[in-house]
Amino acid sequence: MPNTTPGHADNFIGLEWGDEGKGRFVDLVAHKYDVTARHNGGPNAGHSVQANGHDIALHQIPSGVCNPNTRLYIASGCVVDMPLLVRELQEVESVGLSVQNRLGISAQASVIQPHHVLLDKATMAAVGTTGKGIGPAYASKSLRVEGDRKVDIRFGEMVDDTEAMFAMVEKNLRVTLDRLHAKVFTDDTEIIQKLASEFDVARQMNQMRCSFEKVKMLVDPDPLSLLKKIRSGLAILLEGAQAWGLDVTYGTPPFVTASNIGVGGALNSTGIPPEYLRNTYGVAKLTPSRVGYGPFVSEYGGTLSEEHCMADDGRKNTKEAEKAQYGSRLKDMLAADNYLEVGIALRIMTGEYGVTSKRPRRLGETDTKHLKAATQINGVKGLYLSKMDVLSLLHQTRHKAVRIVTGYALDGKSIDYIPTNDTTLRRVKPIHDYLPVWAHDITGAQNIKELPPEALAIVQKIEEEVGVPVIGVGTGPERDQYVQLKN
Ligand code: IMP
Repeated sequence: MPNTTPGHADNFIGLEWGDEGKGRFVDLVAHKYDVTARHNGGPNAGHSVQANGHDIALHQIPSGVCNPNTRLYIASGCVVDMPLLVRELQEVESVGLSVQNRLGISAQASVIQPHHVLLDKATMAAVGTTGKGIGPAYASKSLRVEGDRKVDIRFGEMVDDTEAMFAMVEKNLRVTLDRLHAKVFTDDTEIIQKLASEFDVARQMNQMRCSFEKVKMLVDPDPLSLLKKIRSGLAILLEGAQAWGLDVTYGTPPFVTASNIGVGGALNSTGIPPEYLRNTYGVAKLTPSRVGYGPFVSEYGGTLSEEHCMADDGRKNTKEAEKAQYGSRLKDMLAADNYLEVGIALRIMTGEYGVTSKRPRRLGETDTKHLKAATQINGVKGLYLSKMDVLSLLHQTRHKAVRIVTGYALDGKSIDYIPTNDTTLRRVKPIHDYLPVWAHDITGAQNIKELPPEALAIVQKIEEEVGVPVIGVGTGPERDQYVQLKN
């Protein structure tokens, strides 16, 4: 008799501005699920997971990949770069993981075309995007056509009308290159020449065709595919890309990504009705970070840090450059009055630089006001917190305490909501609480008994402020550097 008891879905989302460590927590629980489905975004900044003793950076493949029994799915609401996906598949296979017969791509997912990447690079510098074509691909999805050109192409169409779709991909690229040469996007001839040479039409088309040959058999034509899996009794883990602070509706446009990150986006993208959604879990980093421009209330050093990190579009203050300039006085910087210096020292000491872009991540303090809003609007039932080990370093700061944000003030008055208008949010000042911190290193702790009482008091304070239980905390980057606090 086939199993007719329906399964369920659980949803995992990043609550801050990305890089919270979602991948490692999803990786921890993936064995409880039959399928891991990625529901939004494209080849974004990437999250690292450990596989067979190697660090691999995942961009488009769901994080459940390390569990050989978990099937993987790229759902309808995603945009996918085929050549990058093929490269990622090769990387995953090179560390001994097989993706054969495990990965599916929804026919409704959109193809990131070369002209999307060109547009991203030529027009989106003011946002500080990842430059992977994600925003333009989602814009095309909503636009659908431009005159006689179809600007959005879905995987199902690539499979069913391959030659017509390749002709359209090429036409889209040629038209966009013509616009580049006509200085529609920028007058800077150096940039125009650089982009024009990167976007050699024949090379791009060849790459697209080769990669399509490798991924076409993964395309799943059934829009109800995930729903049918749940109805047949399977458990599905829904994995969000980027994070709630970057949501296209509830973030602070234009400094956001182009998709809906939260629970509503997850259900829409996967075609799973709400009755099958069991729990949504949120992942937050105790030292939140943001890459690219945009308001960040709890940032160490405020806008000075934003300018520092984004100098030369994030290319100036790389890990090497910061180490060379500040490496010899990290202890003094950590104890400084100047929070910009505290942030720089923490970044160097904790390696907070983009996995792929290498850009310095802007660092901030735990912001329970933001986390409360993010958990409430997404119905988050439990929290996973990464980087508890990093808080030990705050013992070396001037306050010898963990400072957390518990409220916002706008023009001197406390406010009970978070403005989503960029310029208004930049006027908001954080209200802080100070909590005692321990002095010793707790890296690698695995048991609640190994956590100092101050760490548990911080967990308790976050639970009180946010109103959601903390399930576990990360105490280092390795898979087993983790303390489970609740089931
Ligand atoms: P896009 O998603 O490339 O359009 O970039 C929009 C904004 O989201 C930029 O500020 C990026 O730095 C940020 N962003 C996109 N993906 C990630 C991620 O995976 N981690 C952190 N930030 C991201």
